[in-house]
Amino acid sequence: TCLFKTPLLVPTPRKMYALLTAVAGLVLLPFLLHARFPYLWPDLQYVLRGVGIALRMRSYAKRAPCYTVLDRFLDRVRAQPGKAFLVHDGGRFSYLDVDRRSSQVARVLSRRGRLREGDTAAVFMGNEPAYVWVWLGLAKLGCVASLLNCNIRAGSLLHCFSCCGAKVLIVSADLKEAVEGILPTLLDQKVAVFVLSKECDTVGIEALADELDAASEEPLSPALRMNVTLKTPALYIYTSGTTGLPKAAVINHERMWLASFMQTIAGVTSSDVIYIYLPLYHSAGFLMGLTGAIDKGITVVLKRKFSASQFWNDCRRHNVTVIQYIGEIMRYLCNTPKKDNDKIHSVRLALGNGIRSDTWTEFLQRFGGVRICECYGATEGNIGFVNYTGKIGAIGKVNTHSLQRSYPYAMIKYDTEKEEPVRDSRGLCVEVPLGETGLLVAKITKSTPFSGYANKEQTKKKILTDVFEKGDLYFNSGDLLRTDHEGFIYFQDRIGDTFRWKGENVATTEVTDVMIMLGFIEEANVYGVRVPGHEGRIGMASLKLTQGMKLDLLATYEHIKTYLPSYAIPRFLRIQNLLDVTGTFKQMKVKLAEEGFDPAVIRDSMYFLEDNKGYVPMTKDIYSSISEGRLRL
Ligand SMILES: *[C@@H]1O[C@H](CO)[C@@H](O)[C@H](O)[C@H]1NC(C)=O
Ligand SMILES: *[C@@H]1O[C@H](CO)[C@@H](O)[C@H](O)[C@H]1NC(C)=O
Ligand SMILES: *[C@@H]1O[C@H](CO)[C@@H](O)[C@H](O)[C@H]1NC(C)=O
Repeated sequence: TCLFKTPLLVPTPRKMYALLTAVAGLVLLPFLLHARFPYLWPDLQYVLRGVGIALRMRSYAKRAPCYTVLDRFLDRVRAQPGKAFLVHDGGRFSYLDVDRRSSQVARVLSRRGRLREGDTAAVFMGNEPAYVWVWLGLAKLGCVASLLNCNIRAGSLLHCFSCCGAKVLIVSADLKEAVEGILPTLLDQKVAVFVLSKECDTVGIEALADELDAASEEPLSPALRMNVTLKTPALYIYTSGTTGLPKAAVINHERMWLASFMQTIAGVTSSDVIYIYLPLYHSAGFLMGLTGAIDKGITVVLKRKFSASQFWNDCRRHNVTVIQYIGEIMRYLCNTPKKDNDKIHSVRLALGNGIRSDTWTEFLQRFGGVRICECYGATEGNIGFVNYTGKIGAIGKVNTHSLQRSYPYAMIKYDTEKEEPVRDSRGLCVEVPLGETGLLVAKITKSTPFSGYANKEQTKKKILTDVFEKGDLYFNSGDLLRTDHEGFIYFQDRIGDTFRWKGENVATTEVTDVMIMLGFIEEANVYGVRVPGHEGRIGMASLKLTQGMKLDLLATYEHIKTYLPSYAIPRFLRIQNLLDVTGTFKQMKVKLAEEGFDPAVIRDSMYFLEDNKGYVPMTKDIYSSISEGRLRL
């Protein structure tokens, strides 16, 4: 039965030699493998972390009652009560401090707002420590927190508040006025509105601060949230779509866990300090940042708002080791004046998405050895990727077994003109060949569910059916991705970031990249506008000029002509002092595209590209020749 015993025990010289080479081979193996499969180790590490996460997830689901991020927080409080959890504007709150305050919040809200397990309460606050204990307080009652974007007002605020059935609204003192605008409607709907200040003279809004201070700090009974499972909604997070009103994505406890694991995958350790300046009402700040930090038990330096000038000083002052980013932020940081101490900081890891390769390279050169972990994933999506290998520009990598089998996804052919997937004669979608760009779709299964939006209609719109088989269901990511021959996945475009002109696809990011090579252009937002009598959309660029510099029309024309094909050259330029950005800094292309290029409507200065001549100021004459079809483009 034991085949190997004899030869090993009594080695002949020949066998001895074979054994030695085998041992030497084992020692050398990692090096040989590294040469042949350079990404084996990162792949393996990633798969191992993935397996670890899957095991944790299973055990959390099995416990009764299930184990949520709140339970993790409470375990942290027991293990490290005195450790700093939140640092904000000179204030410092330990894990125990935050636990006590959240218990006070829970008591007062259950008494005054009559909140019970399963109820929803909306939180309308900016980044501040109270945000965290209000949410934890709600979680202790088994309630769902609806995280309202603190920049929205009036009609859209009401829309967002109403679409998730909240019966309580909690607002910070500085945002009270924004709520007053919609107060009559809220009171009509019997909504209880609370402000976190000591007093409030607005009828219908109750001040809570004194009562909070007076409430007991003792822990609350877990029986209050006894029925919570991993599938129970934990949060509503509004996704800032490029079109229409925001949608409330349902984040259940399982999804909250999965997003929080991002820090584990990226290699965050318990001694790290994370800097959170992204808004807590979005998934990047809340899930990848805050709840991820709770999972790791680390200190969070919470910043009200991003500030390019304070960024590195904050990092130095608080010994920050991990930062989050979105592409634009990295560019803003690179655009700040160079300083001698640019490389003096302890930041070792940047976690985020949307960075362009040129910015990535520039950032590393300028600010030193920060490991950039680019990840891809939507708040409501059922799939995500991570660049765990260090390949500049890539958002992730297909690793042979794990991903595609357990998370079935595909890149399918997409018709940018009709704005829908290409279908074959049987009505099914078509996968793109390796190396080509396609729309990312991810199969909706029991293990990769799509929890959807509060609104069922919107949920339906994000689901594609009959993708590869009749009746199958896929999540439509709305993103165009490409996989190269080594298996690296690249983000190409968000649908809407491409438009079609003269039968060609124009990638707006590519045009932007070319335009900002010019020193006097600080930012460029490129989009397509409709022209009467023409198919497709023609290019237009809204520019923000570098401070103190002038727009050089001739140089712009010469430069763009050199780098871009004729169909991609913006035909119109619009100069704006401030480019409109959404709360997450996504440029608002749709709004600009709708505004078009009519000089009677647009007050900003505009330029038109005359055939073979260059840019000239836009006039009413040019506009009417174009719209009446006398001037063909
Ligand atoms: C939990 O579920 C049980 C059984 O369905 C129910 O009787 C109880 O009221 C629920 N508890 C809460 C706090 O909703
Ligand atoms: C940051 O680290 C330095 C050196 O280790 C230490 O002296 C300082 O107290 C730390 N600052 C904070 C805010 O932790
Ligand atoms: C992602 O790519 C960058 C490229 O420089 C690399 O430094 C970083 O280590 C990568 N991220 C991870 C998690 O490996």
